[in-house]
Amino acid sequence: MKKYLAPSILSADFLQLGKQVQATEAGGADFIHCDIMDGQFVPNITFGPLIVSAVKKISSLPLDVHLMIKNPDAIIPAFAEAGSSFITVHTEEVVHLHRTIQRIKQMNIYAGVALNPATSFSAVEEILESVNLVLVMSVNPGFGGQKFITPVLKKIERIAEFREKQGLSYLIEVDGGINKDTLDLASNAGVDVFVMGSAVFDSENVEETTRMYKSMVNG
Ligand code: DX5
Ligand code: ZN
Repeated sequence: MKKYLAPSILSADFLQLGKQVQATEAGGADFIHCDIMDGQFVPNITFGPLIVSAVKKISSLPLDVHLMIKNPDAIIPAFAEAGSSFITVHTEEVVHLHRTIQRIKQMNIYAGVALNPATSFSAVEEILESVNLVLVMSVNPGFGGQKFITPVLKKIERIAEFREKQGLSYLIEVDGGINKDTLDLASNAGVDVFVMGSAVFDSENVEETTRMYKSMVNG
């Protein structure tokens, strides 16, 4: 399957956000990953639909919106309106996950389900035939620049195996601690979409670094 690079603007310089997003686009990024945090589901607050729509105005890349928030159902329409291409909710936070995934798809948006490091693959097995993307957290959500949690590689392998066996086509996304040392491990386990925040935006040259990681992703 094709591999995709999704820089996470969580680690971008917010005073230069537009320029930095365009630099990743020039460097070959495939998606822009938007980490939405509410200070409830995770111990941090980032941004909302306003920033997503601002990024939409200056980039042609699909926006990969990751909702690390309580009660995501209430605000999914606003993120749809803002121009999201993917909306991913955390299974830990949604009681009626099948209905939520259906609602996102009815808005003609790709629907994703996210798993925290300690959440097992079996928690989402029943919904996998309906989702377009599975986001496997490889850090505890809330902050960029954390260390990759290696045991999640086993979970990624199980999710990739399940997709193969069932003839499904969801994308497998990894989010957290992806850099030169961990990218190939994740790719070999079956990852299709690589979220990278600090590895890209903490670098000297965002465009060049994006280009370098894009060539790594493409193997
Ligand atoms: C955690 C965030 C981060 C971010 C990636 O809640 O979701 O995983 O996207 O951050 P880095 O690439 O800096 O680990
Ligand atoms: Zn994320």
